[in-house]
Amino acid sequence: MRKKIVAGNWKMHKNYKEGIDLIESCIRLFEKEKNKTTEIIFCTPFIHLHKASKLTDEHKHIHTGGQNCHWEEQGAFTGETSCAMLKSCGASFVIIGHSERRMYFNETHEQLAKKVDSALKHNLIPIFCCGEPLEIREANTHLELISKQIRESLFHLSKEQISKTVIAYEPVWAIGTGKTATTEQAQEMHAHIRKALAHQYDLETATNISILYGGSCKPSNAKELFSQPDVDGGLIGGAALVAEDFIAIANSF
Ligand code: PGA
Repeated sequence: MRKKIVAGNWKMHKNYKEGIDLIESCIRLFEKEKNKTTEIIFCTPFIHLHKASKLTDEHKHIHTGGQNCHWEEQGAFTGETSCAMLKSCGASFVIIGHSERRMYFNETHEQLAKKVDSALKHNLIPIFCCGEPLEIREANTHLELISKQIRESLFHLSKEQISKTVIAYEPVWAIGTGKTATTEQAQEMHAHIRKALAHQYDLETATNISILYGGSCKPSNAKELFSQPDVDGGLIGGAALVAEDFIAIANSF
């Protein structure tokens, strides 16, 4: 059975103290829920990761992750962080290929494939992001673009490897804009991704991979989005910065 996941992508927000306070508040709220069916993940800036992992260590349904990684083990790559380093701070997930990384840091399909390989090698679960910009949606070529994004960065993986990944569909026009994909748009794309996985691997493998929706997901729309058969949770930006909102989303299944 695939997991229901709500992951917070903090991006470049929160100083050290603010971040730790946020995690403590989220844990307090989340632990009030008795029947936990959701896994929650804090994808924090690197500075919070070690402490965040310590705080979440004893909570079975709560995890931490990085927002990016380098594919090399170590070396002269100023400013970069390797998967081994993330792992040593207690992370169990890492976001790879977020549209902001593709857009502002020119990350390519090939680089993302190498990052995915490195994450899996170090036992980190990649949260692989895909998503189309507005002009592609308007040109009605969004299904093709998403197919290409997952094909070029994920389909070199073995069945065992792809089974250890999480995919996040985040239409670029919905990120941080307040504009959410409709439930029909989200479901259509998630079903498309799952079909592509089934075609490349097999139906069982595709059925077991969690596919998250991201892009202006908030407490008021999470329930409807998560009720779609192929939407297994969310990758949450802005709303992950407010404990009450993030946990309300996590409790929206
Ligand atoms: P948003 O960001 O929820 O603020 O739209 C989502 C993301 O970029 O992961």
